[in-house]
Amino acid sequence: MAESRNTQIIRDAWDQYQGDHLKFNIKDRPDFYAFFEKGGGTDLSKEEMELAGDVSGLDLLDTCCAADARQSLSWANLGASVTGCDITPSAIQNATQTARRIGKDITFVVVDAQTLEPIDDASQDLLYATYIVWLEDLSQAARTWHRVVTAQNVQETRRERTARMRRTHRNFRTGATNQRIKGLRW
Ligand SMILES: C[S@@+](CC[C@H](N)C(=O)[O-])C[C@H]1O[C@@H](n2cnc3c(N)ncnc32)[C@H](O)[C@@H]1O
Repeated sequence: MAESRNTQIIRDAWDQYQGDHLKFNIKDRPDFYAFFEKGGGTDLSKEEMELAGDVSGLDLLDTCCAADARQSLSWANLGASVTGCDITPSAIQNATQTARRIGKDITFVVVDAQTLEPIDDASQDLLYATYIVWLEDLSQAARTWHRVVTAQNVQETRRERTARMRRTHRNFRTGATNQRIKGLRW
């Protein structure tokens, strides 16, 4: 599927920013690597962990992991078998290095969360998505996520989550954040 102009702009802007994003996210956390390595720590909220329940042994896909991949590391520390995705090669390169450095067995893939093209149908027990504001086509993303997640989990969550995604997306789109990226048109 051809990538839209907006998605190209978002990918290129984020690809350049990932190094700074990583530095920014760990600047006040000298223990960042130790936290995820030895402490088995998680950066997830209580609500996220409660919603997911016991993830040990589940296949979990993190749609937009970024360079720090802190949520992918968190889910792995909770026992999930994690695939971390991001549209930018620089995020995946950094995340892969981090996982290697601290000995976490996580697969990282450069992929557009809206299509998840190399991810097999019904291959994931859970799908975790943050900052969906960056996705241009939420309908396409919802269809894709329905495709890759096992049917049982989709039935439990699809309607409510899609409605929430649309509200969140609308709110962010009316905000100033995206306007700062030159050339982006919604
Ligand atoms: C603000 S970061 C989110 C990082 C992390 N998940 C968190 O919550 O802190 C947004 C990430 O989404 C990625 N991204 C943007 N559009 C994407 C897309 N279509 N598919 C996959 N990743 C995307 C960016 O490259 C960036 O790493």
